[in-house]
Amino acid sequence: MKQIFVLNGPNLNLLGKREPGIYGVATLDDIRISCEAAGKELGYNIDFRQSNYEGDLVSWIQEAGEKEALVLINPAAYTHTSVALQDAIRAARVTVVEVHLSNIHAREAFRHHSYVSPVAQGVICGFGAEGYILGLRALAASATKQQ
Ligand code: DQA
Repeated sequence: MKQIFVLNGPNLNLLGKREPGIYGVATLDDIRISCEAAGKELGYNIDFRQSNYEGDLVSWIQEAGEKEALVLINPAAYTHTSVALQDAIRAARVTVVEVHLSNIHAREAFRHHSYVSPVAQGVICGFGAEGYILGLRALAASATKQQ
C-alpha cells in the first residue's frame, strides 16, 4: 500500500498542554487518529512518528526515500535551524509537504525563515491540526498528478 510518513519534531509530544493559545488543544495522539482516518479515505497507509532528536528525523527522511513514501513533516523548531533536514530531503528525493500548526510568519522574526521550505513541494501553516489533513490531501493530489 502507498505510504505517507507523518513526521513530527521536538516538543510536539507536548501538544494539548503546550501553549494551547498558540498550538491548540488537540494532542499529538488526536492528530495521529485524524491523519489515519484521512489516510484511509485517500488510500494511503499513515506512518506517524515524533522525535525530539534531529538525527531521528534525518534517518526517517532517508527511510522514506528508500521506501518511496511521501512525507508530511512538522519539523517544529528544527524548521528554523536544520541544514541537516534540508540536505536529507534533497538527498532522499522525497516529496515533502511542510506543515505548522501556527502561522510562523505572524510570529517572532526567527520563525519566519525555514530551511525546509526551499525543498518542500509546499507549505501549510496557521490552520492548527486541520493543516495536517490539508497537507495529506495536497500530497495525495500531487502524487496523482505525477502518475
Ligand atoms: C511549529 C512552529 C515552530 O516555530 C515551533 O518551533 C514549533 C511548532 C508549529 O507547528 O506551529 O515547535 O512548527
